[in-house]
Amino acid sequence: MTLSGLQCLRCGQKYSPVLDAGLCPTCGPGDGTADPGVLEVQYDYRQVTDVVDHSSAGIFRYRSLLPVSQAGPILPTGDTPLIPAPRLARRLGLARLYLKDERRSATQCLKDRATAIGITLAAGQKRRDLYCASAGNAAISLAGYCAHAGFSAHVFVPFDASPVRLGWLKRFGAEVIVSSGNYDQAFAESEAVGAAAGWYNRNCAFNPYLVEGKKTVAFEIAEQLAWTPPDWVVAPVGDGCTLGAIGKGFRELVAVGRTETAPHLLGVQAEGMQPMVRRFSGASGEESGDTAAASIKVRYPRNALRLLKELKAAGGMMLGVGERAISEAQRTLAEDCGVLAEFTSATTIAGLERLATYESLTGKTAVAVITGGRVD
Ligand SMILES: Cc1ncc(COP(=O)(O)O)c(C=O)c1O
Ligand SMILES: [Zn+2]
Repeated sequence: MTLSGLQCLRCGQKYSPVLDAGLCPTCGPGDGTADPGVLEVQYDYRQVTDVVDHSSAGIFRYRSLLPVSQAGPILPTGDTPLIPAPRLARRLGLARLYLKDERRSATQCLKDRATAIGITLAAGQKRRDLYCASAGNAAISLAGYCAHAGFSAHVFVPFDASPVRLGWLKRFGAEVIVSSGNYDQAFAESEAVGAAAGWYNRNCAFNPYLVEGKKTVAFEIAEQLAWTPPDWVVAPVGDGCTLGAIGKGFRELVAVGRTETAPHLLGVQAEGMQPMVRRFSGASGEESGDTAAASIKVRYPRNALRLLKELKAAGGMMLGVGERAISEAQRTLAEDCGVLAEFTSATTIAGLERLATYESLTGKTAVAVITGGRVD
């Protein structure tokens, strides 16, 4: 661990890296029109001599670039396969396509990488109650890891959370608070109740250390490709934490001299709810549509500043895709790759199809992050 500080992505203020940090005290949580003052974790990259610690396991193999150096009481996390998808690559006109298979994570979702850091930090502070808001995946991840550690998970879900996801939460023994509103309302409720109760915050947009766990997926992709990053990495975008984290991970590999280049980032949203697509293209207007991609049905992305910073650094872009295109991509993933992805994760393939209409993908390598495998 070479942690050196925290910096607000909104006002630029620097802070010392206290382990229970949240948002920038000056900027606060924002209000839907103003962005929250999210903090970025910084390291002294000159001190990183080897990115991989071969004596550690899972995400802690990259502990020199994590905010904690030893795993707490966590389920094994990381080490998911990179699946070559030659048939789908041909269909998309790519030289190579790989699927980073986060379905193989402990609770079937990339969210586990953030939860692993949250559980480790909470345990280090002797805190055994953790909370988050989620359409399902982050909540299930927290619930599963808490069940394993003997901790308590308090999860806030939207009124329309799927019965499948509620079933998982029940089985893991979480306290489930069903909001009368959407994800954005559940998020606000979680912050009010969680802060008042003094629970540990597992909301990835507000706890700056959690994206550090998510960025390990970038380290793994790079290592699995023998430190030659792909041309494009594609992920679905909700709050923006996941793709923002992936961008940070690749950027740090260049900063420490482990790779020479970083991939372009492609963020994908459903056309029915695409605030980041609008924002990236400078369009105004409110989101008024809907999507079956429940995990990314986010009206006010809370980590927009982080994602915008990484998109800019990586020469990335945001694209929206329609419901039918997502549905067809989900079927293609199953029929051409043997991969049953959740609806949200199939946006990656629909996004690559759309990208091909803007950019030549001939000779290019892409990685689609199959963020989750829970089929509702
Ligand atoms: C399966 C899946 N993919 C992608 C995302 C998007 O992640 P983020 O909200 O960090 O942008 C989520 C979570 O919200 C998710 O559950
Ligand atoms: Zn600030």
